[in-house]
Amino acid sequence: MAATSMDQLVSLCKRRGFIFQSADIYGGLQGVYDFGPLGVELKNNLKAAWWRAMVYERDDVEGLDAAVLTHPKVLQYSGHEATFTDPLTDCKKCKNRFRADHIKDGKCPVCGSTELTEPRQFNLMFKTTVGPIEGGDNYAYLRPETAQAIFTQFRNVVDATARKAPFGIAQIGKSFRNEITPRNFIFRVREFEQMELEFFVKPGTDLDWLETWKETRMNWWYAQGLSKEKLVAHFIDKADLAHYSKATYDLEYQFPHGLEELEGVADRSDYDLGNHTRYQSELNIQAHVHENKESAAKLALFDDETKKWFVPFVIEPSAGVERGVLAVLSEAYTEEVLPSGDTRTVLKLKKHLAPVKVAVIPLKRNQSEIVKMAHDIKNNLLKTGIGRVMIEDSGNIGKAYRRHDEIGTPLCVTVDFESIEKTPATVTVRNRDTMAQERIAVQDLESYLKNFFLK
Ligand code: GAP
Repeated sequence: MAATSMDQLVSLCKRRGFIFQSADIYGGLQGVYDFGPLGVELKNNLKAAWWRAMVYERDDVEGLDAAVLTHPKVLQYSGHEATFTDPLTDCKKCKNRFRADHIKDGKCPVCGSTELTEPRQFNLMFKTTVGPIEGGDNYAYLRPETAQAIFTQFRNVVDATARKAPFGIAQIGKSFRNEITPRNFIFRVREFEQMELEFFVKPGTDLDWLETWKETRMNWWYAQGLSKEKLVAHFIDKADLAHYSKATYDLEYQFPHGLEELEGVADRSDYDLGNHTRYQSELNIQAHVHENKESAAKLALFDDETKKWFVPFVIEPSAGVERGVLAVLSEAYTEEVLPSGDTRTVLKLKKHLAPVKVAVIPLKRNQSEIVKMAHDIKNNLLKTGIGRVMIEDSGNIGKAYRRHDEIGTPLCVTVDFESIEKTPATVTVRNRDTMAQERIAVQDLESYLKNFFLK
């Protein structure tokens, strides 16, 4: 089968209600998207799978949900005010703007002119006024990464949980970047979500942990359905490293538009904790009251063996939720030619990611007994905790199957005349991938589905 194209995904996402351009009715806000009825489910399922793997299934990670509005000092000392920039160039002829490092052969990608301005550095952070009076110091930034609040709350989390290295703090949340050229659907956008872990280790053990986390994260993406051929780990050249990084792997995925970064796994050394500590010492403030004077303003840990304080090194796996959604959609999108010659579009999402787990279809929507049994089944299945179960009463069974294949619903349960006429009552269960149908007794449905979804 041919590779999935971006057009196929954009069309499916709009038609079926996964993703819409923001402010669509006003012509759209560039680089900003809204997740529709199915998109919100898929996104939530992906985030829940990440949280489960990174927090619940481990014994060495705590969670955090910090504010988006960020104190300017945090982003001054993290280096973002000075260095979180992209080179910007203008085409003198057509007046379009581009990232200078994305220009090929010195030509404007829109009109082909070679008359481009010298690149100048453009800071990607969004600034906003805090309080009613504009100007002066009354501003904050929308965070460009979720990571910084993990560093600035490090002392509070350690004191609250008594954690020792190695341990991590995980966070999922919105980040904002004023990208010069947002593009490729939800791949590069101005408002997005990140799933980030900052994992604090003893200096000297960091490079081993970098390898461990690279492997762990690759395996997690495979478990979300990404294929081994399409996901590669690329060790970044020193010259291309971010301002905070000592060593980085980019986990790159073969998106419809090309091989590009899905997640970064970086060794940030003691760059951030060190910088925020330096600021505390410069002002000589006791940011934190602690019994041990030496640690007073330090974002540090006490080593029980050496009896000394040390600033831990940080390994950071950082993934974008939108890029994750795009990758799993692109991997799952399949067009199959049936023996009849018709083409079937089916989204072969992993079960745990599917927006709708089960569609319960009353074969006749005006037959009250069938409709009642369908609603009873739906309400009972909801109690199993498998996720979203919905009534599909469009009235046409063929259309219902097509729709649920296209949105990736793993199972359809159909209530028909036999269901209400015979005892014990039975229903048909249709499998999305095999299209096989089997008759199951209603009383066995719950255990059948639990077995299917939760094992
Ligand atoms: N805290 C480290 C950090 O933010 P990054 O490589 O700049 O590192 C991490 O971003 C991840 O966030 C990327 O791998 C990508 O998945 C996602 N991401 C970054 N910028 C994005 C954008 N403009 N649109 C969508 N996702 C983005």
